[in-house]
Amino acid sequence: MPQKVIAIDGPSASGKGTLAQRVADALGWRYLDSGALYRITALYARNRRTAWDNEAAVAALAQALPVEFVEGSVLLDGEDVSAAIRSEEIGMGASRVAALPAVRTALLQRQHAFLTEQGLVADGRDMGSVVFPDAVLKVFLTASPQVRAERRAKQIGVPLAGAGFERILADIEARDEADRNRTVAPLQKLPEAHLLDTSALTIEESVKKVLDWYREK
Ligand code: C5P
Repeated sequence: MPQKVIAIDGPSASGKGTLAQRVADALGWRYLDSGALYRITALYARNRRTAWDNEAAVAALAQALPVEFVEGSVLLDGEDVSAAIRSEEIGMGASRVAALPAVRTALLQRQHAFLTEQGLVADGRDMGSVVFPDAVLKVFLTASPQVRAERRAKQIGVPLAGAGFERILADIEARDEADRNRTVAPLQKLPEAHLLDTSALTIEESVKKVLDWYREK
């Protein structure tokens, strides 16, 4: 039985979040930003002075994450960390803790709990491969590293040339490399996933494409 889930996987800054949220709104389904869970885990570990490579300790924190999602904001221990989890540093930390199998296992149940009868659009790296393998539709999103770095730079107000931009591009490429080459739940395009390259598409065009694929099912 296919699950009432649209799984959208892809590299960092490929626009997964915006796309997934818009598709969820269009269908009246819930939205899961799975990357946020890894980011929150990294931030929580840092706040607790726990090293990102201490697998057992980070997994214990992930298991007990005091997190709430309230009207588009992320609360950790009651504090709004929506902006704090978006930094490149925490993105890197997320990538580090996400490479630890015990951390991934600890977050699995929490991700499954997002699925209700309402339906779910979930974005991440392993939504189609591990978390929701029976998703009714799987999409693999890409865009060139240059385009993704430009989007990220615009988002945080960094000029599109110069050292700041070069750093963003290097960070994106480093994180891609780490996410693709890890042994546990690596970023990959599954044979059954629809490939969507958004380098030359507007967000509206991308949303329409996913909705069309879903309606063709
Ligand atoms: O998607 P986002 O950039 O917020 O994810 C942060 C990091 O969390 C990624 O670089 C990746 O290492 C990890 N992640 C993951 N599996 C997911 C979602 C995110 O490993 N499903």
